[in-house]
Amino acid sequence: MRIDVITLFPEMFEGPLRESIIGRARERGLLILGLHDLREYATDRHHVVDDAPYGGGAGMVLKVEPIAAALRDVKREGARVILLSPQGRVFTQEVARELAVSTSGFVLVCGRYEGFDERVRSLVDDEISIGDYVLTGGELAAMVVIDAVCRLVPGVIEAASLEHESHTSGLLEYPQYTRPPEFGGMRVPDVLLSGDHKAIAQWRESEARKRTRDRRPDLEGARPDAAELAGDYASGVGSYRLARKYGLSPATVRARLRAAGVALRPARQAARGPSAEDVARLHASGIGVREMARRFGVSHVTILNRLKRTQKS
Ligand SMILES: C[S@@+](CC[C@H](N)C(=O)[O-])C[C@H]1O[C@@H](n2cnc3c(N)ncnc32)[C@H](O)[C@@H]1O
Repeated sequence: MRIDVITLFPEMFEGPLRESIIGRARERGLLILGLHDLREYATDRHHVVDDAPYGGGAGMVLKVEPIAAALRDVKREGARVILLSPQGRVFTQEVARELAVSTSGFVLVCGRYEGFDERVRSLVDDEISIGDYVLTGGELAAMVVIDAVCRLVPGVIEAASLEHESHTSGLLEYPQYTRPPEFGGMRVPDVLLSGDHKAIAQWRESEARKRTRDRRPDLEGARPDAAELAGDYASGVGSYRLARKYGLSPATVRARLRAAGVALRPARQAARGPSAEDVARLHASGIGVREMARRFGVSHVTILNRLKRTQKS
């Protein structure tokens, strides 16, 4: 894998990408990292790479010519050019996997200051953001991308270590333990000490699902299949409670049950939506009123009223 980086601060990369797994991958030639100083491609004698924005406003913007010159020099045949930007598509494990199989490697372009002259976008193939926040520059974002991609390159990490990781199959990883078997009254689950590999695999699968549903109901692995939903429903759990359990809207739960051929019980009006205590708990954990309304399939006014109820009491 060859990754080239165009940056104003090439020396920032050497510390983090010289250590541990990525450092060893570089030593073994599994990752070839080319660091290119944007300033060297400035066309004037003062090596100026930025200028004030047309139309006024705060800060400076990276000029298009030095970036174009750097790309002409650095870009190899077939390599994708990727701009790091808070406006790009969000970087996920799936995007990391996609980049890890790009045989021609790729070029990362790091922004600084107020960002780039818009015409830089005409020179790139892709634009990646590492999350919905703004960094001072693209270097840390580039290092995040390089780290996540490099560990997926064959030979960098043992393939088995990647198999059950969080975000590999839409699930978060199951809980892990190591010695000692007891710490501060907390015991390692007996099944992990049992030596029964089948039971251990089942426990891990079920814990991974539970954890994903608790923490990330938006992930694919948190979604129940039709048989699981139908089984829960047949055991008496109502569509509102199922919606809450699986992070779906009640309407989606009912639609999936219907599609699976399940005869639905009449919905109980009184049970609609979350309890006032649930609303207060979710609100305290940062979930907004409209997001709760969407998740529970009720109006935001219902959620607000329940929130007010707990705030009065
Ligand atoms: C201060 S930011 C510029 C933000 C720009 N003014 C905007 O509002 O979109 C400077 C540079 O940091 C990098 N950057 C900032 N946040 C990023 C993010 N979330 N993901 C990737 N790169 C980011 C980009 O290269 C960007 O050009």
